[in-house]
Amino acid sequence: MRMIDLIAKKRDHEVLTTEEINFIINEYTADRIPDYQVSALLMAIYLNGMTDAETSALAKAMLDSGEVLNLDLIPGIKVDKHSTGGVGDKISIPLAPLVASAGVKNPMISGRGLGHTGGTLDKLEAIPGYDVDETVDQFIKQVSEHGTAIISATKDVAPADRKIYALRDVTSTVESIPLIASSIMSKKLASGTNALVLDVKTGNGAFMKTEERARKLAETLVAIGRQNNVPCVAYLTDMNQPLGYAIGNANEIKESIAVLRGEGPEDVTELTLILGAEMLVLAGISKTTAQARAILEDHIKDGSALAAFKQLITDQGGDASIVDHPEKLPQADGQVDVIAQASGYITAIETNELGLASVKIGGGRAKKDDIVDPAVGIMMHKKLGDAVKAGEPLATLYVNTEAPEEVQAQVLNSFTIGETKPELPPLIHEVIR
Ligand code: URA
Repeated sequence: MRMIDLIAKKRDHEVLTTEEINFIINEYTADRIPDYQVSALLMAIYLNGMTDAETSALAKAMLDSGEVLNLDLIPGIKVDKHSTGGVGDKISIPLAPLVASAGVKNPMISGRGLGHTGGTLDKLEAIPGYDVDETVDQFIKQVSEHGTAIISATKDVAPADRKIYALRDVTSTVESIPLIASSIMSKKLASGTNALVLDVKTGNGAFMKTEERARKLAETLVAIGRQNNVPCVAYLTDMNQPLGYAIGNANEIKESIAVLRGEGPEDVTELTLILGAEMLVLAGISKTTAQARAILEDHIKDGSALAAFKQLITDQGGDASIVDHPEKLPQADGQVDVIAQASGYITAIETNELGLASVKIGGGRAKKDDIVDPAVGIMMHKKLGDAVKAGEPLATLYVNTEAPEEVQAQVLNSFTIGETKPELPPLIHEVIR
């Protein structure tokens, strides 16, 4: 088999066989195919797509490229959650301790920020001492004893995804349904979870900008789960504005703590409860999502969810006193308000641009090796449908350098102010099982 022929096949809209896909993944993981040939193939896949059978074969080949964790030592049904990525999407942080406090075994292998989107690991690393690297044995022990651990994938989990992901990032081939689906599912299936709740974002801050593409991605993810005996439920959720008010790592930890205290923004709290309730049902703890939600609400009220967050931080070497003293989290030196130039209602928010603005002030990476500044970010003051008066702040930039004028303009231009109050998008667009 020759890689050059397989590239030509995909270029010419032909269908790759499972054997051919296995050859590509095995040879590339073993460094026997050069990056430039795989880049060409990725672009052909991006442009011409893949059949469902090709996508499943790709996910399976990427899963088999490395170790599959055996979590049998952890008693019960293991349930995880994964988001396709958004701006201000900190849901995993309140969700993991909340469901753990209700008895779910949640082995969570998370990712870092990607493009304009933030990543759970970067957010957790804003907590002094929090270590995202654990051995498999530590991971199993922690999930068995305390219900959750949030760690980074080891280099042996889906190594093909690591290599392919890095190439996609620099070849403009990220926003492809077969490539995203195989990337996510290879990692999630390798993590040994028994069931999965998927949060598939749709809107101008998501990789899938239209509902139609988000639905196709969700269906593809659920189908791959089914083929691998891992039941998945996918929620199509709105990303036409940031989730909550905080964007940026330390800011998002503070907002997550507020959710666990019952004082968080409505959208973050609601989505945490909805996804968490689905996890309790998949774990067999509750029969209905209504029952599950009541349990989770009680665990927020009685403080057990907050206690589980302290436990999670302590287990991973972090300073849990930040939960009662969020002021101990890294603080930015400067704050710059971005001021509304007109009065009216917020009718649209360019969420993607806000994510990029946060990256530019140091909250994310423009290059793979960039160091993220945990203290910087953006705090929203206005969201879709809010009334605003000229002269009022729309958002505040938290900066450790002078805020570039270009970034201030980018944030200002992310808000559209109109005369009439707009209809608000639903938080949940659809559920796919
Ligand atoms: N998250 C992933 O893990 N992979 C993608 O391709 C996109 C989002």
